[in-house]
Amino acid sequence: MKPIYSEYPGEFLEEILFGADKIQARVAELGQMISRDYAGQNPLLICILKGASPFHADLIRQIDIPMSVDFIAVASYGDSTKTTGEVKLIKDLDRSITGRPVLIVEDIVDTGLTLNYLKNLLTNREPASVRICAMLSKTARRLVEVPIDYLGFEIPDEFVIGYGLDYAERYRNLPYIGILRLAVAQG
Ligand code: IMP
Ligand code: MG
Repeated sequence: MKPIYSEYPGEFLEEILFGADKIQARVAELGQMISRDYAGQNPLLICILKGASPFHADLIRQIDIPMSVDFIAVASYGDSTKTTGEVKLIKDLDRSITGRPVLIVEDIVDTGLTLNYLKNLLTNREPASVRICAMLSKTARRLVEVPIDYLGFEIPDEFVIGYGLDYAERYRNLPYIGILRLAVAQG
């Protein structure tokens, strides 16, 4: 049987942007910053499913202060061409966040509509604070301003896959991040 995604990433990637080692080094730096900033606060690190799950799992293991986790799953309403920014809640948090310092962990900020919606939703529940940690940001595509408190890497306006990011639900398991080949997207 052919190995999944084979040894030839050139079949589905234009270019590798960040290798596994580079990602892990940056995640360690973010973990140190978060540990320092939230010392004594017992923060809640919320993973936005599904894309942020590898990042969230790596990040929490680089945090050396007491903390806890929760998970929330969202999907964009309607087709992707409509940028209403309305988000459908697929799975809500398990517990109340009132009075808690909350850190939202996301894979990528593109237009910013998803995180803008989510930040408002969570802020309405009166947590002690709400900050955002994102692995990637495509600032060139932003439609609404979203302050990113902790950012892994800025990237160009390209469609990227790997390390949680999918194209049609595939490629989330790649340990690195790369630019999707157009030929793959065109079928
Ligand atoms: P936003 O609401 O436009 O900021 O969209 C954010 C969501 O779109 C992310 O959580 C991803 O699921 C998805 N997304 C945006 N850009 C990419 C990409 O380059 N690759 C994979 N998914 C992406
Ligand atoms: Mg996502």
